[in-house]
Amino acid sequence: MCGIVGYIGSGQAAPILLEGLARLEYRGYDSAGLAVRDGEHDVEIVKAKGRLKVLSEMTDGGRALRGDCGIGHTRWATHGEPSTENAHPHCSDDRAVVAVHNGIIENYMELREKLIKNGYSFYSQTDTEVAAKLIDYYYKKYRGGPMEALARSMMRIRGSYALAVMFRDCPNEIFATRRDSPMIIGVADGASYLASDVPAILKHTRSVYYVDNLEIARLNRSSVRFCTVDQEAIEKRPVEITWDAESAEKGGFEHFMMKEIHEQPRAVQDTINSLVRGEQIDLSGAGLTDEALRAVRQVHVVACGSAYHAGVAMQYGIEDLARVPVRVDVASEFRYRRPILREGELVVIISQSGETADSLAALREAKAQGADTLAVVNVVGSTIAREADHVLYTCAGPEIAVATTKAYSAQLVVGYLLAIRLALARGTLEPEAGARMLAELRSLPEKIARILEDKERIQWFAAKFSNAKHAFFIGRGLDYAVGLEGSLKMKEISYIHSGAYAAGELKHGTISLIEERTLVVGVLTQDPLFEKMISNMVECKSRGAYLMGLTSYGNYNVEDTADFTVYIPRTDPHFTPSLAVIPLQLMGYYLSVSKGLDVDKPRNLAKSVTVE
Ligand code: F6R
Repeated sequence: MCGIVGYIGSGQAAPILLEGLARLEYRGYDSAGLAVRDGEHDVEIVKAKGRLKVLSEMTDGGRALRGDCGIGHTRWATHGEPSTENAHPHCSDDRAVVAVHNGIIENYMELREKLIKNGYSFYSQTDTEVAAKLIDYYYKKYRGGPMEALARSMMRIRGSYALAVMFRDCPNEIFATRRDSPMIIGVADGASYLASDVPAILKHTRSVYYVDNLEIARLNRSSVRFCTVDQEAIEKRPVEITWDAESAEKGGFEHFMMKEIHEQPRAVQDTINSLVRGEQIDLSGAGLTDEALRAVRQVHVVACGSAYHAGVAMQYGIEDLARVPVRVDVASEFRYRRPILREGELVVIISQSGETADSLAALREAKAQGADTLAVVNVVGSTIAREADHVLYTCAGPEIAVATTKAYSAQLVVGYLLAIRLALARGTLEPEAGARMLAELRSLPEKIARILEDKERIQWFAAKFSNAKHAFFIGRGLDYAVGLEGSLKMKEISYIHSGAYAAGELKHGTISLIEERTLVVGVLTQDPLFEKMISNMVECKSRGAYLMGLTSYGNYNVEDTADFTVYIPRTDPHFTPSLAVIPLQLMGYYLSVSKGLDVDKPRNLAKSVTVE
């Protein structure tokens, strides 16, 4: 996603802008540019395709650009290929208006036509040039000043934007506005800053204003004023930023969640390594010898939230491979429904924290009934780990973001290992097949890393749907389990209502909710169920749904049905949740980021729910 930085003060603007843009590099970009002006002199614009380094070299680290007022941008192409022409800033032909933009203007073609009719021509393929020229058009037509020109443009533009604009007639000011794309303003002694995100300006100030949707900010060297689109003044208080953007803890990522998403290859690998000796899955350290596993007649998996979703996946794996019946329960239900537990039944409690109140109570209930209990836990020495009869640790490391990612992935892996060992012990899986599966399991970290390399596609898609009100996730079998987790990721951090459904269930009620442009994410990694999934997706499409297909490479005919397709590497069908969940985590993450939400600490949620 694009990055924006602005500065007006007494220092030289360009080096400050370049440094700010560098702090936003993690957002991904393909070109960059600066617009700087020196008092009454005309604005100078420098743009370059490629890394910021190129722009920096062209301007001698910014020192070659004189002026104490400017805006900068890193662009990630949406409209028009990555090129110098398409790079921001964009301007009207006489440079009366210069702008940088983050977001997607949906009706830019219509606005472009209107402007062409009014004598404008275009040098780029971008929606941003349209925005700059639209502002210029209203500025000159009504002569009501920058605020009015911005307000009129905002009324006409559909879609998302964070805009920073300089007007030739206002040499000592920068204007900014936003809708559904983040924008913050920072104030320091004798200088004002703007940026799409805090890290860009944190070196200079910790006093930050969050611009709300459809607000306009007017920055000069000593103050910032805010007003509504109706030009009514708004009183805003700055927020004091207490965290350190450069904190090594986040490893250069903007959020812990993104850092943790990237730690998944390692979490998966470490978890596999912890339970494999030589070429054998070995759970005997937890007291789960083959003899003990052969005695298991029924498995109950009990957990909450994402851990429950890992449990649903575990159910499919164990039943299919080991042919042992599995029942999965939400812990808050299990603990009160007077579960019937018999000898030879194993109760598996899955919990990242090992402290979740309902899961702990479920464990105690199971133990009170004399069941054998196994904890799958991330936090070593936690209460659930201490109280269970057996413990298998996930090796995800500390998870800080409230929304779990790497711990969930590690839980999936423990589920696979348990299913395979159980199946080998019971003779429902041949040793050669088991060895092949283990080898495939070992390839998952590399495959996850490969998916992460292509995250910009998801970022683009998320930006497009950040205004969505509802979404549906559909799948069959293990793909249903993944849908549950994808849906929760979307809900909890982007606040978009979403539901996950077994695809065959849709026509029993839910399909009545599908209307024009409703986002439906179809997960189809299970080849035997592929055609059936396609039929369910077609049912949604014929009712107007916008379809995202998530499938394995090779299933290219999904594109006949889906509007947007994400591919994951092929793997054993039992392991596809580990790959399919990655784009869905990214989608939740980018939706949250594009809405300017607190990704790592979503409202109303706690990392560990230790109360009922
Ligand atoms: C969602 C999430 C929660 C937890 C749930 C159980 O992203 O993190 O749904 O999975 O609260 O927590 P643990 O695993 O600590 O028992």
